[in-house]
Amino acid sequence: MKFTARTILITGGSSGIGLELAGQLLARGNVVVITGRSKQALEDAQRRFPGLHAFPSDVSNAADIRALHDAVTARFPRLDTLVNNAGIMRIVKLGEDRPLEDVTQEIDVDLTGPIRMVQQFLSHLRSRPNALIVNVSSGLAFVPFPISPVYSAAKAGLRAYTRCLRVQLGGTNVTVVELAPPLTDTPLFTAEFGAHLKGQTGMAVDVLVRRAIAAIEAGQTEIRPGQSNILKIASRLAPELIFQQLSKVGRS
Ligand SMILES: NC(=O)c1ccc[n+]([C@@H]2O[C@H](COP(=O)([O-])OP(=O)(O)OC[C@H]3O[C@@H](n4cnc5c(N)ncnc54)[C@H](OP(=O)(O)O)[C@@H]3O)[C@@H](O)[C@H]2O)c1
Repeated sequence: MKFTARTILITGGSSGIGLELAGQLLARGNVVVITGRSKQALEDAQRRFPGLHAFPSDVSNAADIRALHDAVTARFPRLDTLVNNAGIMRIVKLGEDRPLEDVTQEIDVDLTGPIRMVQQFLSHLRSRPNALIVNVSSGLAFVPFPISPVYSAAKAGLRAYTRCLRVQLGGTNVTVVELAPPLTDTPLFTAEFGAHLKGQTGMAVDVLVRRAIAAIEAGQTEIRPGQSNILKIASRLAPELIFQQLSKVGRS
């Protein structure tokens, strides 16, 4: 699978991993369409990478997904790649006062969003040669992170869903890839978690994206750069020990 002359839709392409992926894939001669909620952020992304196409769309909103599908497939009928990258991650203290609609936000964006995107776009992707779905999970899909309980549940769920999707689409024209990034230096990581992860640096986002593209081109379907691979191995060899380590974060 080569990333040349593809038509690629990236959710959450206005920042961090999605934006870097959009820039690198555009530079390789692909048509790249990005989404996000903030129109301003989408416009900023287009200024940074002229040639990017953008549609405002909230992945947690079913009506937005239907409208996005109709607009993108009409304008870009050669669409053959869907990257479910949009995500949010928060520190959530369970039991604190919080509206019910708020407490499940990570499930709505990080899990329900990709499941609905696949449901909506799959029949189009089934009609395209060598189609590709990339679901962006997390190293925390392997070991939960107690200060982010809903995120951990969403990403473990996305990993499970992605594995099932790969089996169900086995032997078809659609390849299913899981990209599980480690801590990566993006606004998501630096904004809320920087203070809690003293001394830890994330992987540079350009390095992560280069590795991900190379791995997909090499035919890997489960990509676990850096610490994500360590988390997967530790989750098998010493599951309680690694969980205890992650449980210490945010306690002091
Ligand atoms: N950075 C890390 O350390 C790390 C590690 C493991 C996994 N990941 C995963 O990698 C993915 C990208 O994260 P990132 O670090 O690049 O985050 P980021 O810099 O915060 O970017 C998140 C992107 O998602 C968009 N987004 C958020 N909610 C959305 C919604 N409801 N609908 C549509 N778009 C939405 C944001 O735009 P708007 O806010 O304008 O909507 C933005 O473009 C996420 O799935 C994240 O869980 C990140």
